[in-house]
Amino acid sequence: MLRRLHPEQPESFAFTPGNLEWAKGQIAKYPEGRQASAVIPLLWRAQEQEGWVSRPAIEAIAEMLGMAYIRVLEVASFYFMFQLQPVGSVAHIQICGTTSCMICGAEDLIAVCKAKIAPNAHELSADGKFSWEEVECLGACANAPMAQIGKDYYEDLTEDSFGELLDAFAAGETPLPGSRKGRFASEPLGGLTSLTEYTGGHAANGSVERAEVYGDTIMRISEQPKPVGKVRQPETPPDTPKPTPDARDEPVPNEELEEKESKGRPEVDKEEDAKDAEIVAVGAKPEGLSAAREGGPDDLKKIKGVGPKLEGLLHSLGFYHFDQVAAWSADEVAWVDEHLEGFKGRVTRDNWVEQAKALAAED
Ligand code: FES
Repeated sequence: MLRRLHPEQPESFAFTPGNLEWAKGQIAKYPEGRQASAVIPLLWRAQEQEGWVSRPAIEAIAEMLGMAYIRVLEVASFYFMFQLQPVGSVAHIQICGTTSCMICGAEDLIAVCKAKIAPNAHELSADGKFSWEEVECLGACANAPMAQIGKDYYEDLTEDSFGELLDAFAAGETPLPGSRKGRFASEPLGGLTSLTEYTGGHAANGSVERAEVYGDTIMRISEQPKPVGKVRQPETPPDTPKPTPDARDEPVPNEELEEKESKGRPEVDKEEDAKDAEIVAVGAKPEGLSAAREGGPDDLKKIKGVGPKLEGLLHSLGFYHFDQVAAWSADEVAWVDEHLEGFKGRVTRDNWVEQAKALAAED
C-alpha cells in the first residue's frame, strides 16, 4: 500500500504547551547526538494532538530533533499506526479484520462502518466526525470481533452493539471500553472453567478501569479537531485539567479505582447527575431489606463488575442477596441502574440479573 502525504495540508503545526514540555522531556532521555531516537514518541504525540500526522508536523518534529525532513517522513510513512490523512474529529475506528475477528463477524462491523461512516476506508464521514479502516490483528483475538477506537478496545462486538457504539460516540458520549457481552477479560463466555475461586472484586478489568478513571480515550482528539487547510485553535483552553503523562504512568492500586472513578469525574457531569436525579424518575424501586437475612449477606462481589464500593451501595439500597438481584424486573433494573451513584448503568452493562440467577442457583 502506498503511503503518501495527504494532498491537503494545514498551514502549520505546533505542539500545545503541555505537549511541547512532554516532547522536550522525551528528547532529554537520549544522549547528545541521539535525539533522533525520540522520533516515534514525538510523531505519536503529534498524532494524538491532531488526530493525524501532517507535513507541517513532520517538519516541526524533524527540526526539533535535528533530522532531515525525509528521515521523519520515512518513519511516519513506514508505520501504519501513523495516519497520514485527516481522521474523524470525534473518532477514527480501527476494525480488526484478521482471522479470529473475520470468522466472528468483522465483515459485519465493516458493513456498519460503510453504512454509518463512509463507503471507503480513510474517508471522512459527511459531518467530518468519523473515519474508519481495517487493520491487522490487534491482539484481542479471544474477544473477537473487536475495534480499537482511540486508545481503547471495544470487544465482543456484534453488528447491533457496534452500531449502538457509533451512535453513542455521535451523541457526544464516550462509551466504556471492554467486552460488549459482559466479560471481565477474555474468560470463556459461559463463565470460568478454571481458577474458579477467583471472584474478581473489581468493577472492570484494569484497562477498562484506567480508561474510565483517566478519561484519556478519544478525548484528546476531539478536544482539538483541526480542519484541513487551516489551523484551528483548540476548543478548550490548553490548561484544561487533564491527567499528566506522569500521572497516567503511575499504577493505580485496584482498591482505589472505584474511589477514583466516582471522584475523578468532571464536576459538570456530577451536576448533570444531580439535575437528572431531581427531574427524572426512572423505573420502579425494587423491594429491599432493612438488613441481611439470618446467615448474613451473600458475597455480592461474586457478580462480575461488583467491587467493594458497589457492594456497599447495594447494601445501602437494601440488597444483600443474590435472589434479590435475580428477581429484579426490567423496570427495577432501570431504577437500580439510575441509583448507583458514580456507577450508573452497571446492572445492565454487566447483566447482573443473569449472573445473580446463576449464583443463586449455586447456593
Ligand atoms: S484477530 Fe482480531 S484481534 Fe486478533
